[in-house]
Amino acid sequence: MERILITSAIPYINGIKHLGNLVGSQLPADLYARYMRARGHEVLFLCATDEHGTPAELAAAKAGKPVEEFCAEMHQVQARLAEGFRLSFDHFGRSSSAENRALTQHFAGRLADAGLIEERSERQVYSKADGRFLPDRYIEGTCPNCGYDKARGDQCENCTKQLDPTDLIEPRSAISGSTDLEVRETKHLYLRQSLLRDDLDAWIDSQKDWPILTTSIAKKWLHDGDGLQDRGITRDLSWGVPVRKGDQEWPGMEGKVFYVWFDAPIEYIASANEWTNARGAGDAEWERWWRTDKGAGDVRYVQFMGKDNVPFHTLSFPATIMGSREPWKLVDYIKSFNYLNYDGGQFSTSQGRGIFQDQALELLPADYWRWWLLSHAPENSDSEFTWENFQAGVNKDLADVLGNFVSRVTKFARSKFGEVVPQGGAFGAAETALIAELETRVRAYEVHMQAMEIRKSAAELRAIWVLGNEYLQAAAPWSVFKTDPDQAAAIVRLSLNLIRLYAVLSAPFIPDAAARLFSAMNTMDVDWPTDVASALEALAPGHEFAVPEVLFAKISDEDRDDWQARFSGTRD
Ligand code: MF3
Ligand code: ZN
Repeated sequence: MERILITSAIPYINGIKHLGNLVGSQLPADLYARYMRARGHEVLFLCATDEHGTPAELAAAKAGKPVEEFCAEMHQVQARLAEGFRLSFDHFGRSSSAENRALTQHFAGRLADAGLIEERSERQVYSKADGRFLPDRYIEGTCPNCGYDKARGDQCENCTKQLDPTDLIEPRSAISGSTDLEVRETKHLYLRQSLLRDDLDAWIDSQKDWPILTTSIAKKWLHDGDGLQDRGITRDLSWGVPVRKGDQEWPGMEGKVFYVWFDAPIEYIASANEWTNARGAGDAEWERWWRTDKGAGDVRYVQFMGKDNVPFHTLSFPATIMGSREPWKLVDYIKSFNYLNYDGGQFSTSQGRGIFQDQALELLPADYWRWWLLSHAPENSDSEFTWENFQAGVNKDLADVLGNFVSRVTKFARSKFGEVVPQGGAFGAAETALIAELETRVRAYEVHMQAMEIRKSAAELRAIWVLGNEYLQAAAPWSVFKTDPDQAAAIVRLSLNLIRLYAVLSAPFIPDAAARLFSAMNTMDVDWPTDVASALEALAPGHEFAVPEVLFAKISDEDRDDWQARFSGTRD
């Protein structure tokens, strides 16, 4: 049994996330967490809301609420949606927590003690029209690296380069559009990441198994000239973690807060601390996941995120951890994703384009979305959501293949043998062949799930469902029954057991459907099939079952067209 720490990039608090956000971190992280738990490993799966920074302040102002209140409410909204999608976090924390405030200030103090923090007088963009400093994201302009004209002050979305606002060419306020900007002096703290460059380089080199998407982005920013610039880690804002050196004041930094990208990843750690505090458990319990001197030495730590987050997780956050000179757990594996596009364009939170989590759950239950999104995860390239494709995936895979198998088997069994697993008959060549093929495919499924190859895992699972249908079609118990009822009983017994096996294998992808199958099969035996032949004997002759309600409804062409039209515009 291994111990596996899993974090998903923590979503911004400023609004409800779209399906692209979901498939780019939280959903695959959940798939992996559920799989690893099913395999008997000890898992700690953490997420949180990313609550600081200007976006939160602006969204609160737009909602006409104090920022604390806005964040508390929006956290609840996101927590409920996470439950709706069955994201099985052990804890869903808040980066504005007391735990994160203390840890963030602690890290800053340690970094300062290690000589890794420098105070600099910074020239920062002030907007006269808006009457405020304009931090990072709220300045737009042309990227000096690639020429993209909607680059933001913190990062260019187009080429992923991390930027400082003053790097932008022809900057304008993203709040008012005003170009009446001036640069004013203000004092800030800089993390001297450049001093950690060799440590980071060696660490990244030692990660032999990282996916190319992750390593290439990290290496690019480490080696491209000014890739590892020192980073400003404070801001002139009121909402955030107040700048302190551990529990001491930081002279000259009064009224300033840490930059949201400094405190957000620290929330991965703080979330574990929130998790124990919420249950009144001691620090030892979360530290055994996070401190290598306190038991985390044998933890495998896996992070899930979109590709735009990779520089922060391969460079900035590891710099914070290494620079602290304390034995915190570093990430072992980073699974990163490309983007999911929407019907010929991009999903966009700011433009309200695409399908948002709350809307999705109003249309269909979580499993429909989970299955389609995961089986189309943007792993090796961007992928695209279209309503045709979604309809086809749901109708074919879930309704025609899995749902149809379950319904045919259970209904036929009931009509000929009643609602019990029938006895009699023996397995012949067809059954032996099926079991051998299942054995091969189940092992391949395990390999892909272990490797977080999400599309390959989905394809293997689908192939496993298809095997059942093909077997049933060829074995044709409805005709065999006329001449050899015992043989038909053996076919049905195997098929009913296949339903239980499917529930076990499918649960990480479609947990609700799996739960309904377990309850229809009237069993609590959710054991992983380490041996397919014996797994297919779990439900013994005489075991009672019930015919479940339709597992998956098909999406009609009318619904598809209706939804397509409804979601073609933008949401405000
Ligand atoms: N909120 C960021 C986003 O949605 C992700 C933050 S991840 C963390 O892109 F590392 F900072 F926690
Ligand atoms: Zn660029």
